[in-house]
Amino acid sequence: MAVIGGDGIGPEVVAEALKVVRASGVELDTTFFDLGGARYLRDGEVLSDDTLESLRGYDAILLGAVGTPGVPPGVIERGLLLKLRFSLDLYINQRPFVGTAPGHAQPHDFVVIRENTEGSYAGEGGVLRKGTVHEVATQGSVNTRFGVERCLRFAFELASRRERRHITLVHKTNVLTFAGDLWQRTFDAVATEYPKVGTAYNHVDAACIYLVQDPHRYDVIVTDNLFGDILTDLGGAVSGGIGLASSANLNPARTGPSLFEPVHGSAPDIAGKGVANPIAAILSAALMLDHLGASASADAIRVACAAPTSGSTIAVGDEICRRLQG
Ligand code: IPM
Ligand code: MN
Repeated sequence: MAVIGGDGIGPEVVAEALKVVRASGVELDTTFFDLGGARYLRDGEVLSDDTLESLRGYDAILLGAVGTPGVPPGVIERGLLLKLRFSLDLYINQRPFVGTAPGHAQPHDFVVIRENTEGSYAGEGGVLRKGTVHEVATQGSVNTRFGVERCLRFAFELASRRERRHITLVHKTNVLTFAGDLWQRTFDAVATEYPKVGTAYNHVDAACIYLVQDPHRYDVIVTDNLFGDILTDLGGAVSGGIGLASSANLNPARTGPSLFEPVHGSAPDIAGKGVANPIAAILSAALMLDHLGASASADAIRVACAAPTSGSTIAVGDEICRRLQG
């Protein structure tokens, strides 16, 4: 596998994830790639064609976090992370949330399937007359029938294999009438192929209320790229914090490697202090093991992460290893 520790707390949390995977009994052959904001500041490389081609040859990529103060917004995000998502056709961003939300007694267990290659992230748009009072900025949202349908299909397939067999489309069909209509019609069409899966629709603003007040209602949420980005930070906040939120950027067709990364960022304010929570990275590595066919180890890691832990980044990693080996 390829490992991109990245910036800030990325390398610290990834080191714990690798340690835990090995403690679960899975052997890993790792190649480290020095990429991210720090690398960019050093020699200007964000992600060269050669590096991208070399990454294609791995079974999986584990990424810590990227982003460094001093690099303009978008350089690393678009040039590295989104370039990987788009070039490797990682069209599903799967983000599971398990926990008990603040003020609730009942635990929740839902997964957000976020479309990962289109929408507002596609980069359509531009600027005119920059810096003048007549400046115009447009930022389009690209939604293709092909892209929407393959995302919905993946989500329905997942829902059909889960206990509750329920799926909620989240969008804003009352205002984004073009894209919303495409999502809704495609959702309804795919739903006819899954008669055993219960369906619902929520506007994204209402979904924000429900995620806080009634998160147990959800089983699978499927949504577009930007709504998925926002909802999954909220999902993290109601599930023990963003330090626990894991994600899988999947190429379900398996024409190349998938990429696994915690939802959180590089957190430069706490980098190097040894206090970052490694559990999001560890759970992301468990998603990697699921994808690679080592689900028993992945399940064992999830069980080991479920009980409370405390202490430094390394102490938490050590404790989870002990649980796996004991
Ligand atoms: C995420 C992150 C990324 C995104 C950024 C870093 C480009 O916020 O994975 O959720 O917006 O998708
Ligand atoms: Mn995000």
